[in-house]
Amino acid sequence: MKKMWGGRFSKKTDLLTDDFNSSISFDQRLYKQDITGSIAHARMLGKQNIIDPGEAELIIRTLEEILADIEAGKVEFAVEMEDIHMNVEAILTERIGDVGKKLHTGRSRNDQVATDMRLYVKEIATGSKLLIGELVATLLDLSQQHTETIMPGYTHLQRAQPITFAHHLMAYVEMFKRDMIRMDQVKAMANTLPLGSGALATTTYPLDRIAVADELNFAAVSLNSLDGVSDRDFCIDFLEAAAVLMMHLSRFSEEIILWCSSEFNFVTLDDAFSTGSSIMPQKKNPDIAELVRGKTGRVYGDLMGFLTTMKGIPLAYNKDMQEDKEPVFDAYDTINICLITFAKMVKTMTVNKPVMKKAAAGGFSNATDAADWLVKHGVAFRDAHEIIGKLVFFGLEHGKSLDELTLEEYKSVSPVFDETIFEAIDLTVCVNQRNIIGGPAKERVEKAIAFNREWLKQN
Ligand code: ARG
Repeated sequence: MKKMWGGRFSKKTDLLTDDFNSSISFDQRLYKQDITGSIAHARMLGKQNIIDPGEAELIIRTLEEILADIEAGKVEFAVEMEDIHMNVEAILTERIGDVGKKLHTGRSRNDQVATDMRLYVKEIATGSKLLIGELVATLLDLSQQHTETIMPGYTHLQRAQPITFAHHLMAYVEMFKRDMIRMDQVKAMANTLPLGSGALATTTYPLDRIAVADELNFAAVSLNSLDGVSDRDFCIDFLEAAAVLMMHLSRFSEEIILWCSSEFNFVTLDDAFSTGSSIMPQKKNPDIAELVRGKTGRVYGDLMGFLTTMKGIPLAYNKDMQEDKEPVFDAYDTINICLITFAKMVKTMTVNKPVMKKAAAGGFSNATDAADWLVKHGVAFRDAHEIIGKLVFFGLEHGKSLDELTLEEYKSVSPVFDETIFEAIDLTVCVNQRNIIGGPAKERVEKAIAFNREWLKQN
């Protein structure tokens, strides 16, 4: 096949060069964006009389047919044609002859690929946001069922204060909401049309860039042609948003892995979302959570790899930038599969409420509340801390939690105690007294769930 840039060459490229240089094996993913961009460009060329309007029509019609044929699996791409842009153009020219060659008037592959990638990133940012939203919806449903499910909250992985399972889940809801907002920001960053930048210094044709931006739904056109073709910061923004999302999913996965160990036993994963061992018959492994945690490293790699690719490239376009595609595709595929599978795993897991509650009681997680009771009865907080510390020590020695100690035992450490201490250290009371904005009280969490359901509708 004849190269589109073959004019100044006297020799054919080595097959190895073709192979190494070519991106069609992966950038064929951009066929829709490429053709949509070309249609808008052709329409504008016709309207501006840069090419004959009738010819523009023919080009547009044929591009639409090519799009349909690609979607029907009827098109085979050629490695010698290097990338999706030249493949589409070659097919066009094959179908309508010389008229096809006019499509590239006033355009370079540099502004073409920069446009395609922006269209693509806008699309996947929207798609990612939707998927994160579905996970948020799942977590809201689950939270609704667990506003009274007491569990220990931790710091340093040591039992700290009682909370509810809903409150814990809702922490992740907040994180994932920010991940959704980050996807909106990615979209905004990619929302500027570079087409018209040409190879680097625009063109002498009177292109109507704003008309093209309107047709392609871009909010603005780029104001500097060098910048238009040579930055891929919007790809990095996507990779960054994907990396942060994976970081959140990975922490959640880590907790689930801990929770389904026999040591915790807070949740049991559904058989459909866990796996067995080929040697140990008793095993049920949280492979999905582990893989999500593991794939986080891979998405970080996508981000770090491409950041590094970009760091030393002089303006304007350099072929290094062809390396933007695989990390973006890989990160998108990875967050997609992780989000879908993770949501199903969480939805189907069983929450072992009594175990969670016992862990909250056994870990003296109500000790702060016991100290607060003393403070409310006139004891200084530091003294109260000391008194409860002694009771905890006593409890540890006798294998009793705070609510299992007798009033006599309480009184032996401080005469201030009376029977109302038992109500104050009741775990449900402890939780529900934390009833300020952001707190774990049932009423607060219910409000947060309602608020976030509304937020989700609007986002
Ligand atoms: N396949 C190329 C890429 O992804 C398209 C742009 C090529 N431009 C060039 N001047 N060689 O970046």
